[in-house]
Amino acid sequence: MNRKLTVGSLVPSSVVVNQQHKTSTPPGIPKTVSRTAISGIRLIQDGNVYEVSFIPGKNLLESGLDNGIPLKYKCRKGSCGVCKIRLISGAGLLTEANKRERKLLSDDVKAGYRLACQATMGPSAIDD
Ligand code: FES
Repeated sequence: MNRKLTVGSLVPSSVVVNQQHKTSTPPGIPKTVSRTAISGIRLIQDGNVYEVSFIPGKNLLESGLDNGIPLKYKCRKGSCGVCKIRLISGAGLLTEANKRERKLLSDDVKAGYRLACQATMGPSAIDD
């Protein structure tokens, strides 16, 4: 008899195996987020217009760089302002500007400017 044994065949039926893939999710990002990139964010930096596919769990800068978009940045901490961008569309997909953005950008936040290294995906962009 040529019987194949699999891992599942060795686990008693009374044992529940958790096969959920574990990933590290940054604070503030729900763990139920789809891992599919979300498009629809258009932005301008230094006169160049880019469309960014937002990658859940990553901020706007990281998503842009992962998409091959040559966004300028330096500190990645919200203190230098080099990653400053202006949103053309998709602002509703992002969280509100955080304290660092409001401090550095001041009234520019109201005009649609954000720090790409601080802008993260908001709840409206999350799949149900
Ligand atoms: S890279 Fe310095 S504020 Fe974003």
